Amino acid sequence: MSKRKIIIDTDPGQDDALAILLALASPEDLDVLGIVAVAGNVPLHQTLNNARKLVELSGRTDIKVFAGSERPLRQTLVTAEHIHGATGLDGPDLPEPTYPVEEKSGVQFIIDTLRTVDDVTLVTLGPLTDIARAFTEAPDVVGRVREVVMMLGSWRELGNVSPTAEFNAYVDAAATDIVLRSEARLTLLPLDATHKVISTPERMQVLRDMGNRTGPQAAIMLKASEAFDMARFGWAGAPLHDPCTIAYLLKPELFSGREVNVMVETESELTLGMTVVDWWKSTDRKPNATFMTEADGEGFYQLLFERLRRLP
Ligand code: BDR
Ligand code: CA
Repeated sequence: MSKRKIIIDTDPGQDDALAILLALASPEDLDVLGIVAVAGNVPLHQTLNNARKLVELSGRTDIKVFAGSERPLRQTLVTAEHIHGATGLDGPDLPEPTYPVEEKSGVQFIIDTLRTVDDVTLVTLGPLTDIARAFTEAPDVVGRVREVVMMLGSWRELGNVSPTAEFNAYVDAAATDIVLRSEARLTLLPLDATHKVISTPERMQVLRDMGNRTGPQAAIMLKASEAFDMARFGWAGAPLHDPCTIAYLLKPELFSGREVNVMVETESELTLGMTVVDWWKSTDRKPNATFMTEADGEGFYQLLFERLRRLP
């Protein structure tokens, strides 16, 4: 099977970090054409710094890192330092990165790559600002996308940033709307799936005992960000939201869901960013996405451990 060509758009974030490491540990399956940092969990200069630190940690010096959007299309940026810490990647003591940032903007990189390379999959781990800008500035690229695989939205699990909205869908609701209406092939890993992959103490111990540098560093990262989820939801650890996207690409059978219509609320103050999922076909709106609601937690962690063990 040929490798899947992907661009990762991300706002690291500890769970973004695990997703990036999982992708970079899987070179036989994934050809990572570039990583674009976007403002989200923390402002852009920090997500960019964190993306560079993670590439250095992985030892993959062939990866190109780009700067994406500094702010959402219309909203004021809402960040999540209360979960991820002031740097967005609190916990591990990673050196300040010396890794270069490409000169081209992240949005231009996405446009140019889609225009010149066939079959590219976009993987989004943060707000959809860069993807929406690329689709708006260059509508010709939409039909060139193989699939957009997104950690985004929720249905039965409701919200984590507000009573009804998931963080990535909420932070740039206008961008979410553009992508959901784009007619690109969309796959969503929403809270309904990601809440089934919890980093329990036993799973954290496997990371600590991995025998390399990356495993224990990953455990320290997750420890630093799990308190919020444990307190709010009463779980034994934190859900690994963003790595579900990469795990889906590596082993789609770990997830299942339905072809449904998904729209997002862009106006209401009360429900901004809420994804409205027509699970029961109550409307005649056409399905526009595959919406995953089930995840095999054991299978997910086996895959994660097997791959992270390969890194330095
Ligand atoms: C999403 O929000 C961010 O805080 C996480 O990194 C993840 O992408 C979960 O709602
Ligand atoms: Ca994220």
